[in-house]
Amino acid sequence: MSRIPIGIVLNGVTGRMGYRQHLVRSLLAIREEGGLPSRDGSLIWPELVLVGRNADKLEQLAQRHGLTEWTTDLDAALARPDVQIYFDAQVTQQREKAIRAAIDAGKHVYTEKPLAEDTDAAVALCRAARAAGIKHGVVQDKLFLPGLRKLKRLIDGGFFGRILSVRGEFGYWVFEGDWQAAQRPSWNYRAADGGGIVVDMFPHWQYVLEQLFAPIRSVQATIATHIPTRVDEVGQEYEATADDAAYGTFELEGGIVAQINSSWAVRVRRDELVEFQVDGTHGSAVAGLRECHVQHRGTTPKPVWNPDLPVTEPFRAQWQSVPDNEPFDNGFKAQWELFLRHVVDGPENGAAFPWDFAAGARGVQLAELGLQSAREGRRLDIPALDL
Ligand SMILES: NC(=O)c1ccc[n+]([C@@H]2O[C@H](COP(=O)([O-])OP(=O)(O)OC[C@H]3O[C@@H](n4cnc5c(N)ncnc54)[C@H](O)[C@@H]3O)[C@@H](O)[C@H]2O)c1
Repeated sequence: MSRIPIGIVLNGVTGRMGYRQHLVRSLLAIREEGGLPSRDGSLIWPELVLVGRNADKLEQLAQRHGLTEWTTDLDAALARPDVQIYFDAQVTQQREKAIRAAIDAGKHVYTEKPLAEDTDAAVALCRAARAAGIKHGVVQDKLFLPGLRKLKRLIDGGFFGRILSVRGEFGYWVFEGDWQAAQRPSWNYRAADGGGIVVDMFPHWQYVLEQLFAPIRSVQATIATHIPTRVDEVGQEYEATADDAAYGTFELEGGIVAQINSSWAVRVRRDELVEFQVDGTHGSAVAGLRECHVQHRGTTPKPVWNPDLPVTEPFRAQWQSVPDNEPFDNGFKAQWELFLRHVVDGPENGAAFPWDFAAGARGVQLAELGLQSAREGRRLDIPALDL
């Protein structure tokens, strides 16, 4: 079978997302499977150029995975004629200028979210990408989670009747770093370094709500920095200047009300780290990362409020598990495959990629308006972006 080599610059590949999800679980996994079949049956073969700030780390990482191409010079990597795609998993703050350089070099661009730090910058990147005629995409991995795919299947099958509300609960305890090391990078907790849970999570909630349910018409958020001091990777105490919890209410077109709590200062007594409960006139569902449970109106119990009596119903046991019915691959890999086909086969041949910079800009906009809403203590409408 003939191979179509496709050169990909991976920037930020030493980071949590760049290494584990994008390099190992997506692009190297595609190579381990022998390549990705394109439309005509040839195999798309990612040729990787690792880019980062630390030469030693890059060399070690390349050696560990049998790769030979790495550099600390982004411009040199972007100048290579054998590179077609630039991918960015750097800290958010570094993203905009690197993407701009990639667009200027005529490369297609795929990037982690958020696309940029503010809406104006995201819109400008979207316009620049369109003007340059390159293909562009933003990671929207939650859509590819088995739990949310099952939820989408239920929506498409009309399970819910009229959808009334969505309640999302996301979060876990991120250790302060003193008596136990923190399990997230310290920049996440410093506003000046692009941290904050709103900037991190609202872009996800934007595409989840918009693509599963309906466009978001307004946002109201209350935010907090519950843990004011943390300890960083080198044992240094620092002030947490970014929000570590956000309590958001989103009104969707058609009257659906969505509320999503996001917190790095909450302990988990749920089945999964994120769960969405969807209530509709004909049925309800609770979807997590992998699992999804439903209750149809025909099997809905009729509890009567009486705090003097012990619980009368085994509420959890009354839900039914939604079966897989199909294999679910890693969500990051599934989206990489779609982007690679989009670049190689093209939308004109059915390889569309709807999660483009315009979608990414809407995610940034929701985060920005969420923060503004919290600052001003009021609900804000979400205007259409002028793209
Ligand atoms: N899709 C998702 O579910 C998801 C989850 C977590 C993070 N992310 C996004 O991925 C990106 C990276 O997050 P992460 O958790 O992997 O972070 P990380 O700190 O683990 O990795 C950051 C990477 O950026 C590089 N970098 C470049 N310039 C830097 C600088 N000036 N300071 C620090 N690092 C610099 C680092 O070397 C490293 O490779 C962020 O934009 C974040 O929003 C996405």
